[in-house]
Amino acid sequence: MEDLSLHILDIMENSVDAQARRIEVRINEDPDRDLLTLEILDDGKGMDAQTLQKAMNPFFTTRKTRRFGLGLSMISESAKATGGELTVESAPGKGTRVKATFHQSHIDMKPLGDITQTLLILIIGRPEIELSYCHTIGEETFSFDSRDIRDLPTGSPKVMRQIREHIQKGIDRLTRRTKDS
Ligand SMILES: Nc1ncnc2c1ncn2[C@@H]1O[C@H](COP(=O)(O)OP(=O)(O)OP(=O)(O)O)[C@@H](O)[C@H]1O
Ligand SMILES: [Mg+2]
Repeated sequence: MEDLSLHILDIMENSVDAQARRIEVRINEDPDRDLLTLEILDDGKGMDAQTLQKAMNPFFTTRKTRRFGLGLSMISESAKATGGELTVESAPGKGTRVKATFHQSHIDMKPLGDITQTLLILIIGRPEIELSYCHTIGEETFSFDSRDIRDLPTGSPKVMRQIREHIQKGIDRLTRRTKDS
């Protein structure tokens, strides 16, 4: 996997498969502790303890179309490669929280990649699912919630371009502000 945004897409896909109505993506970068925490929360069908235990195994999947399930084991490998780890908490009927930690200065740390594109894939492909994104670096935060664009036509290319620019600018500003300080 090239970058974190693709991991995020993968994990969000699990949430979509689990019939989530709301997905929250949180990134918290703490430069002082050299720690990036990525959390993806959903209100989907969740997993019982046995499924959860198996879910971390790359040879387990509840998919019918493919024999291997790789989403969780791949993000786990990426986190571990930097000295971080993956934890998954889940409750049947309630939802799932996937949390991965990374040490950003590690040579094997992957770039964030195109987060905007990843979010747009969900916004356009699954407009009925609420998506919230919250990205904090030190003291600064950028957040976006698709609830705020609920009444806009996600089928309109013009509207989509505006949403893309809004998110991209927000993330760019956040990274620029925190780099300068
Ligand atoms: N958010 C979630 N809610 C409910 N079940 C989940 C969730 N995430 C993962 N699972 C369960 O864990 C299994 C393994 O997930 P994983 O992403 O590793 O593989 P996959 O989704 O089966 O296949 P792939 O990601 O390669 O398409 C899933 O098949 C599903 O049963
Ligand atoms: Mg998956």
